[in-house]
Amino acid sequence: MLELRNINKTFNKGTPNAKQALCDLSLHLAPGDFVSIIGSNGAGKSTVFNAIGGSFLLDSGSIRLDGRDITFQPEYQRARQIGRLFQDPLRGTAPNMTIEENLALVYLRANKQRSIFGITNKERTFFQEKLSELGLGLENRLKSKVGLLSGGQRQALTLMMATMVTPKLLLLDEHTAALDPATAEKVLELTDKIVKNDNITTMMITHNISSALEMGNRTIMMNNGTVILDISGKEREQMTVPQLLELFHQKSHTVLDDDRMLLV
Ligand SMILES: Nc1ncnc2c1ncn2[C@@H]1O[C@H](COP(=O)(O)OP(=O)(O)OP(=O)(O)O)[C@@H](O)[C@H]1O
Ligand SMILES: [Mg+2]
Repeated sequence: MLELRNINKTFNKGTPNAKQALCDLSLHLAPGDFVSIIGSNGAGKSTVFNAIGGSFLLDSGSIRLDGRDITFQPEYQRARQIGRLFQDPLRGTAPNMTIEENLALVYLRANKQRSIFGITNKERTFFQEKLSELGLGLENRLKSKVGLLSGGQRQALTLMMATMVTPKLLLLDEHTAALDPATAEKVLELTDKIVKNDNITTMMITHNISSALEMGNRTIMMNNGTVILDISGKEREQMTVPQLLELFHQKSHTVLDDDRMLLV
């Protein structure tokens, strides 16, 4: 489904601030793969997502999504096929628009012919059904401005918007890191449910090392702009957090260092 082949990216090339953020990174995701990604601060995790999303062009290497070479495709075209969530709950929704207007935007993005001013009753019913699946009572607040929602409600809504038209790939960049633990847990449960229901190929960067082992079917560790560990199946099932940290140490000769890392 996704194929990153020998991708390289150096920022500020030729200056004293040059930084090789991606270093010959290769990765293959099968359809329906749900990969959790962990790594130290500055390992290049978000940069991989930016490369896939098209925030910049690669220095070398190629990216294929669902059989198509998207290496040179502009960001806005990739955005139609890739759902993205960020740490900041304020990204991804429009605060001054109502919940139903935000949801209608999803259709507007998918179908340029559609007008945003004219939400049909059928759509409204569909929105309510979808929102009730979140279990946050948002189905009764279609006309509320999104800016009034809590961080967790907003992140759940963003997740729903990113998956309402099933994307080919879902990229979650520490999407629960800014939420309180109980809300984070709830949004993670929702993530699991939606991804499983729609069998969405997903990559999730997390600072929570135990959810990196529990969520999805694969765990990847990154260091210095490349993948140093990729575990799945039995090996992953039997892996404990201390063992994973030890493996990271063996492969990278450094200690996993993430200022937001949660070890339990
Ligand atoms: N647009 C950019 N311009 C210059 N340097 C950048 C840019 N984007 C990322 N970098 C650098 O590339 C490296 C990798 O950054 P990245 O944000 O991918 O790390 P990360 O693994 O997501 O870390 P964190 O856990 O802190 O989020 C860092 O040294 C960062 O400063
Ligand atoms: Mg990051």
